[in-house]
Amino acid sequence: MPRVLANIPTGPVAVPDALLELADGDAVTPVWRNELGGLTFRLSGADGDRFVKWVAAGTPELDLDAEAERLAWAGRYTPVPRVLVSGRDESGAWLVTAALPGRSAVDPHWTARPEAAARAIGAGLRALHDALPVDGCPFTWGVRDRVARLDPAARRKVGAVPPVDRLVVCHGDPCAPNTLVADDGTWVAHVDLDALGVADRWADLAVASYSLEWNYGDGYEPAFFDAYGIEPDAERIAFYRHLWDLG
Ligand SMILES: Nc1ncnc2c1ncn2[C@@H]1O[C@H](COP(=O)(O)OP(=O)(O)O)[C@@H](O)[C@H]1O
Ligand SMILES: [Mg+2]
Repeated sequence: MPRVLANIPTGPVAVPDALLELADGDAVTPVWRNELGGLTFRLSGADGDRFVKWVAAGTPELDLDAEAERLAWAGRYTPVPRVLVSGRDESGAWLVTAALPGRSAVDPHWTARPEAAARAIGAGLRALHDALPVDGCPFTWGVRDRVARLDPAARRKVGAVPPVDRLVVCHGDPCAPNTLVADDGTWVAHVDLDALGVADRWADLAVASYSLEWNYGDGYEPAFFDAYGIEPDAERIAFYRHLWDLG
């Protein structure tokens, strides 16, 4: 998996034709570009705002169908974007969701307040893990499957898998940008759930804490772990960060 850095577009972004049609006159603002070229836009209209994730045809790593399924399931238990519509044409695929309140934890408002952002991310991850039921979750993000998807050279570098501490339904991409935070510092919701599934909670904890450094710099892990309510487990953190870097 790539290290997800803050990539809020600052220059012009070409708007796909399909998106102009979806916008139907609403104002279109680019809000995000991921490492694989996937784009997210905000559509602002009289009836409220929508977000559109758009992925060019032939980008297999970005599976919007998997994301829509997981959003529908997780939305029964925890705040996540509500899917309005999805579709595809020859140029790409899209997923439209209703806007949630709150700002991404890497919005400039929060990069200027990293300690509070790290707390919100920790509290949010705890709330997610507490809310989603492992029994009855139809998705997995287990180590075995993740290792099986690696190329053979990477697979040889994985090392010994630590025993499971606690199985939870993990976010799957718990990097800072995927937490939405209210202006008073409380966690609001999670986005970007295409990898959500059952796994050891350290699979999420290791990467969420890892991403603090990429987005805010050093020194914010204690606030994160304190807000989650757990002592860092060095061995499991090292294993799951290494696995993330290999992916
Ligand atoms: N329904 C939504 N409500 C509010 N913000 C959203 C919504 N959907 C996406 N976003 C914003 O757009 C950004 C990109 O969406 P995300 O699903 O994380 O895409 P990517 O897979 O490219 O990271 C998020 O970090 C968040 O700030
Ligand atoms: Mg994201």
